[in-house]
Amino acid sequence: MGKVMSKVVLVTGGAGFIGSSFIHYLSKEHPDYVIINLDKLTYAGNLENLRGIDTRANYHFVKGDITNRELVEYVFEKFKPNYVVNFAAESHVDRSITGPEVFVRTNIYGTQVLLDVAKDFWVRNNMLEHSRFLQISTDEVYGSLPLESKDKFTEESPLNPNSPYSASKAGADLLCRSYYVTYGMPILITRSSNNFGPRQYPEKLIPLMINNAVQGKPLPVYGDGQNMRDWLYVEDNCNAIDLVLHKGIIGEIYNIGGGNEWKNIDLVNLICELLGEVTGKPSENYKRLITFIKDRPGHDRRYALNSDKIRRKLQWKPKWNFRDALRYTIEWYVKQFKL
Ligand SMILES: NC(=O)c1ccc[n+]([C@@H]2O[C@H](COP(=O)([O-])OP(=O)(O)OC[C@H]3O[C@@H](n4cnc5c(N)ncnc54)[C@H](O)[C@@H]3O)[C@@H](O)[C@H]2O)c1
Repeated sequence: MGKVMSKVVLVTGGAGFIGSSFIHYLSKEHPDYVIINLDKLTYAGNLENLRGIDTRANYHFVKGDITNRELVEYVFEKFKPNYVVNFAAESHVDRSITGPEVFVRTNIYGTQVLLDVAKDFWVRNNMLEHSRFLQISTDEVYGSLPLESKDKFTEESPLNPNSPYSASKAGADLLCRSYYVTYGMPILITRSSNNFGPRQYPEKLIPLMINNAVQGKPLPVYGDGQNMRDWLYVEDNCNAIDLVLHKGIIGEIYNIGGGNEWKNIDLVNLICELLGEVTGKPSENYKRLITFIKDRPGHDRRYALNSDKIRRKLQWKPKWNFRDALRYTIEWYVKQFKL
């Protein structure tokens, strides 16, 4: 029997919300893997997210930008990764509306640099056959569905991104596809719905509402609050990403949805109720902070994902019950606040 090669996984954006959760997950599930975390530490990256991991001998942090080709080449030469999981991105839709440029730079150009360096390194070292490049994408590349529709996006749905953020993510997906078709790069793509959980930067809906509510600040809800999102607990996403990384078919795309659609206003009300349970204060104190604000331009009405493929082919399903996961997340943020 040949020697089983141990895995060296380059995780980009591993100091952010999902990337750090994935590093925690990976080091628990595969303690023998060497993990390299390449992160620029933008406003969204926080090394506190890796507390407990950072002392491990087989974990290495490199501060740097995925658009810096020389640095990425250095990382490949030094650590010789055979798996790449690309989380690094500008990820906030509102910021992409006011400043799209950095989204194109990081999300598209950065992905191209990673693809190119990985290709050259793997070809030169005869590693292509045993390597994998997993691009972390989003359901937002499919665009929006009408509220009244029962449709869900499948992996075959056309790409119709509506914000500079989702357009940049769609651009990266297409580049990945082209590297698979043109150069035979071992590409995999996951497209997940909205994640929630501990460690998310509090500009995103769920942590923003929790943090504002705890401080008695207004809870800003866009437009009429009827926009629908499919919520997925971050650990369930990490489990799905791990499955795709190891068992997914090269060249394929996997949707990852929670099958858990909520109108924004109903979700904010539920957060207020759970906050009441967690803090022992009347939930009405929180609900009265809800304030409707002018809608986001180009605000997608509804996202809904069909995840049959990953459920059938890789036997994935979310393990967490939504209410429990949301309550746990609220407890986590409330605890942070008391520190
Ligand atoms: N949060 C969600 O609900 C969600 C849903 C679907 C897909 N995604 C995708 O998952 C990935 C991670 O999302 P997140 O919510 O954890 O984002 P995040 O904003 O919390 O983290 C992004 C991380 O990438 C780093 N980064 C940004 N630009 C970089 C660069 N040029 N070079 C190196 N590092 C850089 C940041 O420092 C940060 O640590 C993104 O690709 C995003 O598009 C997120």
